[in-house]
Amino acid sequence: MRILQITDTHLFGNSEQALLGMNTSVSFERIISDIANDSLSADLIVATGDIAQDASEQAYLHFDAAVRKLSCPYYWIPGNHDDREVMTSLALADNPFVGDAALGNWLLIMLDTSVRGSVHGLLPESELQRLAQLLESVERNKSLQHSLIFLHHNPIQGNAGWMSDIGLHNADEFRELLARYSSVRAVVYGHIHQELDAVYDGIRYICTPSTCIQFKPGVEDFALDRKNPAYRWLELQDNGEINTWVHRLENFKIQIDERAAGY
Ligand SMILES: [Fe+2]
Repeated sequence: MRILQITDTHLFGNSEQALLGMNTSVSFERIISDIANDSLSADLIVATGDIAQDASEQAYLHFDAAVRKLSCPYYWIPGNHDDREVMTSLALADNPFVGDAALGNWLLIMLDTSVRGSVHGLLPESELQRLAQLLESVERNKSLQHSLIFLHHNPIQGNAGWMSDIGLHNADEFRELLARYSSVRAVVYGHIHQELDAVYDGIRYICTPSTCIQFKPGVEDFALDRKNPAYRWLELQDNGEINTWVHRLENFKIQIDERAAGY
């Protein structure tokens, strides 16, 4: 089974608009054409939030129309720049909002960590309960053996000083819950616009670069990284292993405002 993760597209209703110097619509369209031309195909696409920068209907409709060209079902999770009400109100053919999906002997679980008006994330009690129920269902269901969790906000500390307060605020509670279930193979997210694959307290955490601007790791104050837009492949094996890699655009001219002090 093969999953494609797209994250932090930051689209505007007006496709001429740029985010810190980069036209997010142009980079997104380049990503979509790279995916369409990739020799691999996906069973499912998961978009892990910050779909829109301005939470406009037009931005979401743009995303939907572009991803639909790939002829693959997708799910989308809200990020801090999104508006869950706008995302759920759109008259789309399917409702891709949050959810869960069984794929072979894997259960994919999408979580909503968005907090209206805030940059940081939080899993409300209802989402923690849904997560626990789904993980219990994996234990009960003989045809399911592995679970993979998707959310927007980083559930482990970000690797730049300025990121100290923007992650998942109840990450400890989330990680304690995961530790009770043996089926969890990885947690996949976006939000901090960079590539990362690390094991923390026995659980694998995978972060994916944005389809537009990237954040520089290892710095104290906000800084952009001169790395190209990207997406991620995740190949899920029946035995619970995950092969994963990031595909970055090639021949892409980076235009960013390197003096930007925040986003
Ligand atoms: Fe973002």
